[in-house]
Amino acid sequence: MKHFLKETDFKPREVAEVFELAREFKRKRGRHDPVLARQTWALIFAKASTRTRVSFEVGIHELGGHAIFLNKNDIHLGRSESLADTARVLSRFVHGLVVRTYAQSDVEELARYGSIPVINALTDLLHPCQIYTDAFTAAERWTGPRGSLLASLRGRKIAFLGDTRFNMANSWILGAALFGMKIVLAGPKGYEPGAQINTLLSAEGFTGVHQFTTDPYEAVAGADIVYTDVWASMGQEETAQQRILQMRPYAVTAKLFAAAKPDALFMHCLPAHPGEEVEQAVLDSPRSIVFDQAENRLHVQKAIVATLARQLQA
Ligand code: CP
Ligand code: NVA
Repeated sequence: MKHFLKETDFKPREVAEVFELAREFKRKRGRHDPVLARQTWALIFAKASTRTRVSFEVGIHELGGHAIFLNKNDIHLGRSESLADTARVLSRFVHGLVVRTYAQSDVEELARYGSIPVINALTDLLHPCQIYTDAFTAAERWTGPRGSLLASLRGRKIAFLGDTRFNMANSWILGAALFGMKIVLAGPKGYEPGAQINTLLSAEGFTGVHQFTTDPYEAVAGADIVYTDVWASMGQEETAQQRILQMRPYAVTAKLFAAAKPDALFMHCLPAHPGEEVEQAVLDSPRSIVFDQAENRLHVQKAIVATLARQLQA
């Protein structure tokens, strides 16, 4: 059974196909085949969500399927029922799981014990649906209607600023390796990418993918994309004040953004905290594509779901 727990669960040829399918779903919104007809997918969320939840629910509906949203507190998972049994039981009812939680090992366990595809909708380690969408969104800008989306990413540079030791930074490191991009991360000392992502990179055969610097200007020099995320992610609320003080030099100000390539794009997974990790003027600038990123979650995730669902019909 194929799952989507990390960026590299699709090989480059499959990534190219997912992107082209997303482009087709976007072009034919409301007019494409109901590839999930008579299927039900469950969404299990242990953290808050606006974009991911809504885009998956709408996307599954648009593909002709039905989505059930399960807040983790509403089901037995984690209290009186194990991940393994939850996976085995849900596999008897539904055709796929979309899971947002803390530990990457939890999504791996659900995938191991279930017999249906599992999609990682964000863990503390990775946010692969977001990274595929981000890459697709930048590629849309860099290609015409028929050029290869994946090929347009090769050799591009992304600068990732701020919290360089959590899911978005990790996922972009793995994504950059997969898409053939360069990535330079700039954050405070002590926020170098951690052992878990380095182990994953080695296991996938990637070496020397990322550079880390404490100098934000060094990171953005020559960058095609300037990317940031909130400084305190879900679950890190207690250290928010300390993080604000440490990460302030890495705020994407108009001045810092101007030090990237003249046609660089500003990207953010959202939700944003204007005045913290990004200045309002940068968020609102014509080179900010944050709302295209948000919209494209729908099209790209539909392509991921449809690709995984094919194996159920085979
Ligand atoms: N970017 C993102 O995943 O947003 P949500 O937390 O709103 O789903
Ligand atoms: N790093 C953020 C991303 C939210 C989409 C978090 O985990 O809260």
